[in-house]
Amino acid sequence: MRLSHLFLFTSSFFSIFALATRWRQGHPCPESIKTVLPNSDRPLDENENGHTFDSMVAVHEALTTCPNISSLDLRVTLMGCSSWPDRFNFPFRLAGGERYPALKELRLEGYNFDERPWEKLALGKSYGLPWYESLTEWLLSGTARKWWNARALDIDQRNKTNLDLWLDAMDWSHLEALAVLDRPLPLKDVPRLRSLEKLDLSGSDVENAREVIQTLPSQSLTSLTIVRSAEMLELETILSHQGKSLTVLELRSPEVQSKPSPAFNISELQFLPQLAPNLQHLSINVHRNGSWPLGTLEAISTNPSLRSVDIWFDIVSECRRQKPEAPHIRDVRKWEATHGVDACNGEDQYQRPYIDQSSSLELFRYMRVKKIGQELANVTFWVGDWTRAWDGPLYFADWLEHRRSKVSCSIRAEGGEEGWCVVEDGKEYWKRGKYWDWGGDDDYDMVD
Ligand SMILES: *[C@@H]1O[C@H](CO)[C@@H](O)[C@H](O)[C@H]1NC(C)=O
Ligand SMILES: *[C@@H]1O[C@H](CO)[C@@H](O)[C@H](O)[C@H]1NC(C)=O
Ligand SMILES: *[C@@H]1O[C@H](CO)[C@@H](O)[C@H](O)[C@H]1NC(C)=O
Ligand SMILES: *[C@@H]1O[C@H](CO)[C@@H](O)[C@H](O)[C@H]1NC(C)=O
Ligand SMILES: *[C@@H]1O[C@H](CO)[C@@H](O)[C@H](O)[C@H]1NC(C)=O
Repeated sequence: MRLSHLFLFTSSFFSIFALATRWRQGHPCPESIKTVLPNSDRPLDENENGHTFDSMVAVHEALTTCPNISSLDLRVTLMGCSSWPDRFNFPFRLAGGERYPALKELRLEGYNFDERPWEKLALGKSYGLPWYESLTEWLLSGTARKWWNARALDIDQRNKTNLDLWLDAMDWSHLEALAVLDRPLPLKDVPRLRSLEKLDLSGSDVENAREVIQTLPSQSLTSLTIVRSAEMLELETILSHQGKSLTVLELRSPEVQSKPSPAFNISELQFLPQLAPNLQHLSINVHRNGSWPLGTLEAISTNPSLRSVDIWFDIVSECRRQKPEAPHIRDVRKWEATHGVDACNGEDQYQRPYIDQSSSLELFRYMRVKKIGQELANVTFWVGDWTRAWDGPLYFADWLEHRRSKVSCSIRAEGGEEGWCVVEDGKEYWKRGKYWDWGGDDDYDMVD
């Protein structure tokens, strides 16, 4: 087949495929939208009625024309080296007047709230273009006309950010679940969140998270999630404002190779029953460097209302943290000269004690024995790197990447007491040497 035929064949194949599935104005309305953009080169998540969305413009059109949409789950990102979304926020009209349905659930990742459309309309410098070309481009693209029209708006309207325009377009007081990932939740919309019950602040730094939690009506959240790297919030700060109403709390850091994940100490955990008396599910980091953290597990178990727990253990051993790695060859040689070529290889790279089916069962039993109040039904032990596989531009993977394991323990599991715990992922992870061993195993699934 000639190359041009191949091209025709594939492009018509894809456009038929696209016509059949991509949502456009006039198609039946969805009630929820879930999409990752850009998605032109990947299989699509289908909404009910088989809708898919291929651009921010299309999602915006759906939101302005479909009154019954109640939930939006959107991730907008750079894929690989060359795949861009059409934009990183919705194209609100600067003059206002658009309406979105009052969403109940909103999950945003990578969304840019801060842009001022007015600033984008002005004639700016285009990198590498002489001024007369920038001017021609500005005039011919229609931007100049939009700029001219927007000049008539009063100065406050003209100066609005994308977030301001979204706040105008939607009634935020019906929102029950909100997640803003990848960037902080802008405080401006917090006072409007009068129905909010579930909040995920994983995009916020400590300062922003604290402010948001304190600005919400006191004791209004039932579920709070903050998964982020680096420092941890003080439990007391969060729980004195929202603890009484919380039934679900997830407060943890993904593991990074360079240092131990922050973890709450026993005296902090001992305050939990007082501060969060209705807590049913808890998800936190726990340290186990060298021995089982029985004291910490006992402190967790003394929450009377607690029914299930997710425990996140680090996988990287202390010597592995210190040990330099490629591409820093000179540091590697220096390290080997001091510590020996065989130091910190193989199983030494993994933190001890190792997590397997029998050690998990022992820990689960221990927690159940120490439990007071409600019976502890489920504990899941997570080890290592559970972050989403990287899909952005080129980068160096570190040793930690994809090394992980998961053991689920439940009294509802089949097989009686012996069968309570199941290794669901990363069986005998400490015996896997090379990076590629982590993809080649049948019972190991790299795709999240
Ligand atoms: C929205 O929901 C109402 C009530 O369920 C229904 O009557 C109406 O047809 C729906 N509108 C659209 C555009 O789907
Ligand atoms: C636009 O808003 C920003 C931030 O609120 C403010 O600093 C700036 O002075 C405003 N510009 C105008 C022209 O009002
Ligand atoms: C536990 O952590 C808190 C807060 O970081 C700290 O003030 C306290 O000293 C710690 N207690 C122990 C026993 O390490
Ligand atoms: C465990 O970690 C603590 C602090 O994180 C440290 O003080 C202690 O020495 C460590 N124990 C072992 C056996 O490495
Ligand atoms: C425990 O896990 C099972 C499934 O594994 C689930 O059906 C059940 O609701 C969980 N119980 C609690 C209290 O989380």
